[in-house]
Amino acid sequence: MMIYDLEEIEELGIFDGINEIIATTESELGVFNAAPLGLIRKGDLLSVRLFVGSHTYDNILAGGKFVANVSHDPMLFVETALNDISDDEFVMREGELTLKDAETWALFKCEPKNLDIALPDVEFVKGEVLRRKFRAVNRGINLVVEAAVAATRYVALKSDIYLEEIFKIRRIVNRCGGPREIEAMDRLEELIEQFE
Ligand SMILES: Cc1cc2nc3c(=O)[nH]c(=O)nc-3n(C[C@H](O)[C@H](O)[C@H](O)COP(=O)(O)O)c2cc1C
Repeated sequence: MMIYDLEEIEELGIFDGINEIIATTESELGVFNAAPLGLIRKGDLLSVRLFVGSHTYDNILAGGKFVANVSHDPMLFVETALNDISDDEFVMREGELTLKDAETWALFKCEPKNLDIALPDVEFVKGEVLRRKFRAVNRGINLVVEAAVAATRYVALKSDIYLEEIFKIRRIVNRCGGPREIEAMDRLEELIEQFE
């Protein structure tokens, strides 16, 4: 089901607060990229905060757009935060670069000139609901996302505080998560070892 109206953005799973989505973008040379990104919504106002130096930043600066993919796959958060995913995990939909396994996707545009600031406003263009799956809140998946944030900070800042956080999270994921969450934590630990 396609959505074109900002009034209906909740159909795409985007609510007030920070929506942790996977942004898909393309470089000027056509290289695909995916990375977790917080899409901030306050009513009708949508914005993102981009750290200078990431591929996502460069691609949005060059192209003036990104696709927000909603996913509950913990592995996707880990792989896209710390590593690259293969080209066959992407698919073009309605002319836009999206993730094959997305639950919904939404195209946002922003004026590249606004990217001089850290918090550019972004404009909703269109989106599509691909899968509707209810799930109970699970501490495991939420904590894997939290661990992926700590891991990107660890990679950037190399502070042991983040390793301690990841270690604490690991114990709860083992208790509350399913096999996919546990597998994602294994992968996260494997990937951060490369940066030690
Ligand atoms: C849950 C989560 C949310 C994130 N949110 C943001 C964000 O809002 N802005 C940002 O610049 N980076 C954010 N990051 C960090 C980037 O995803 C990370 O730096 C990534 O490696 C960038 O990859 P890229 O160079 O392929 O764009 C987030 C990471 C995670 C795990």
